[in-house]
Amino acid sequence: MQAILRTAFPPALPKRGARPFPWPWRDRAGRFSALRAVTLALILAPGAWLLVTALTEGLGPEPAKAALREIGLWTIRLLLVTLAVTPLGRILAAPRVLGLRRMLGLATLAYALLHLLLYAVDQNFGLPRIASEIALRFYLTIGFVALLGLAVLGWTSTDGWMRQLGLRWKRLHFLIFPIAALGVFHFFLQSKSQLWEAVLAAGLLAWLVLWRLLPAGARLHPVALMLLAPASGLAAAGVEYAWYALATSLPASRILAANLDIAFGLRPAVWAAVAAVVPPLLALPGWIRARQSRRTAPGSAAPGPEPAHSPAAAGNPGR
Ligand code: HEM
Repeated sequence: MQAILRTAFPPALPKRGARPFPWPWRDRAGRFSALRAVTLALILAPGAWLLVTALTEGLGPEPAKAALREIGLWTIRLLLVTLAVTPLGRILAAPRVLGLRRMLGLATLAYALLHLLLYAVDQNFGLPRIASEIALRFYLTIGFVALLGLAVLGWTSTDGWMRQLGLRWKRLHFLIFPIAALGVFHFFLQSKSQLWEAVLAAGLLAWLVLWRLLPAGARLHPVALMLLAPASGLAAAGVEYAWYALATSLPASRILAANLDIAFGLRPAVWAAVAAVVPPLLALPGWIRARQSRRTAPGSAAPGPEPAHSPAAAGNPGR
């Protein structure tokens, strides 16, 4: 009995030298982390909510298809949240936030696998048909390639693989950006005329890529971050325009012009720009503090140690 209890509830702190069991709500030292527990609960919430809705027959006449779509949406949302962890952790100078990347990345993979499983359910597990559909339907092929990419990154996300691959690990995990672009493309391809969230996702992904392209010293600067807001909005509007112009017979220039007309509410490209105003606002207090401490530091004219909010002090920008 004691052995069972020990397995179910391992001691909060591991013995010296022993590796703590990687329960997702514990930090690397094996201590309970409220931040990790809340993140885990938020990750599980959409799946749990969907399960309850399915059990209460609230998913409509085609429950598997409805669940497939819903889980697809949560996959792309989680992928974007995973990519946002590094900028957020650095802007807030919060290394504990950076520690959430692996959990969020693996959760994205789990949702993507569930999405595939629901596709199989929708197709009555007809494996030859599923394989031929994935091979022949372009949007499914794109989704499958994105899923394979996520699986490779999930498989190699362990400490062992990090040590084994060394510098190549970072290069491999940089593939998360093309994978996210494929995920968004898959989203566009199957969205038909309902492009609202796909365009927003494209704008948010543009921000995440542009932030990485900023020179390291500018990534926490409120002005540089503020410039990313119109850039992300323009990128989203450009993608939306290109989509309507190339893939539909709808008037792309009128849809582009609608971004300037708020009479019918804000368009997704404008929302992408609005969302991109949040990071510079979050960066401002830290940037002001860093400036003040540089000014008041004795002998501040001489090059001193990096302030806490500086890029070097905020830790590794990678995954
Ligand atoms: C083997 C891999 C995949 C397959 C077979 C697949 C299949 C599908 C199918 C059949 C749909 C619904 C189409 C419809 O409405 O009739 C869909 C939607 C979607 N999928 Fe995938 N998918 C795959 C991978 C992915 C991945 C990796 C992502 C995200 C990174 C993703 C994100 C989405 C999104 C966002 C939607 C749209 C949901 C909506 O319209 O509300 N899928 N997928």
